[in-house]
Amino acid sequence: MLMHIPFNKVYLTGKEESYVANALKGDKLTGGGNHTAWCKENLTKRYGFDNLHLTTSCTAALETAALLLNLQAGDEVIIPSYTFVSTANAFALRGAKIVFADSAAANPNIDADTIEPLISKRTKAIVPVHYGGVACDMNKISDLAKKHNFMVVEDAAHSIDAYFYNRPLGSLGDMAAFSFHETKNITCGEGGALLMNNRLFNERTEIILDKGTNRKIFAEGKTDKYEWVGLGSSYRMAETSAAFLRAQLEELDGIQKIRMELWNAYYSALTDAGLQEFFSLPVLPHYAKHNASVFYVVCNSRALRDKLISGLAAKGIASAFHYQPLHSSPFYSAMQQKPVVLPNSEKFGNCLLRLPLHANLSKDNIHYVTELIIKILN
Ligand SMILES: Cc1ncc(COP(=O)(O)O)c(C=O)c1O
Repeated sequence: MLMHIPFNKVYLTGKEESYVANALKGDKLTGGGNHTAWCKENLTKRYGFDNLHLTTSCTAALETAALLLNLQAGDEVIIPSYTFVSTANAFALRGAKIVFADSAAANPNIDADTIEPLISKRTKAIVPVHYGGVACDMNKISDLAKKHNFMVVEDAAHSIDAYFYNRPLGSLGDMAAFSFHETKNITCGEGGALLMNNRLFNERTEIILDKGTNRKIFAEGKTDKYEWVGLGSSYRMAETSAAFLRAQLEELDGIQKIRMELWNAYYSALTDAGLQEFFSLPVLPHYAKHNASVFYVVCNSRALRDKLISGLAAKGIASAFHYQPLHSSPFYSAMQQKPVVLPNSEKFGNCLLRLPLHANLSKDNIHYVTELIIKILN
């Protein structure tokens, strides 16, 4: 019999329905109710985070960060090419020039040793993306930001419960954006969080998240006028989503335990299979404690990657490639006078293959997938 293994399936903890039903009984559906407060407190206490806001998505959190930077036309933001479009879009929307950096040879994260030549007087920020919850080299990136006086916005979309040495990802830049999209370790369908580590921005963040108004100080009775005071948008998470997220956060440790076991099961089965002539396994820098957000292999060619995708699909297993490098996207290339060449990003774009990984899977499922990979290759 054919076994069907979806690439992703939301893991439900069992409490989502009752928490959402409870949120519906409250008088605060727009957010800012008990469930929002619970999630914020849980995340800030658990990780020692400073000032955290729940948002409608990671994209919304990145757009808020971009607004906070007060970017002017011609300002530059350094971004890895191997990332999701939102990382770049958020800053491009504010008129910034996106300067793409290459990935490291060993993993899809930005190659910290290639950043300095990309810095100019107009560089206002860098946005490291911790791919698969594996930390970027944040010491090198923070040193460059200090030396050249620009901000660091961590794209921590994949990075809940992942660490750089013993520091949680998200806590290392001036700001960070997390995702709770349904493909992430914990979810509420669509959702995110903006973490502020630089207090400089606290007041303006409230204004931006309140659609450009002074709603917060008005509600606190500090002004008698409720007015438009700056740029802003509609980025706050609704209370029903926060209720769903709470159910997931309560089970975060359990979910992480399952995911780590599955990730390790893939890693050891594929190591034992000795398939290095076909692909390489994830390379984890010594400073990174990852969170089993993604399990990937990097195939030796695109043809081999595509053969694995179709071979697995024929047996009911959904696997997936990941980002198409943004420097060679139709939108970006059309704006360039000469093509940008970033060989490592291109290699990951062509050769990276993600295997199914979600907390609904069992070790038997992993065994089935790895055995099938061995069969397809032999
Ligand atoms: C690196 C990265 N940044 C940002 C996002 C956008 O996240 P969201 O869907 O929560 O807006 C994604 C989406 O998967 C992502 O992979």
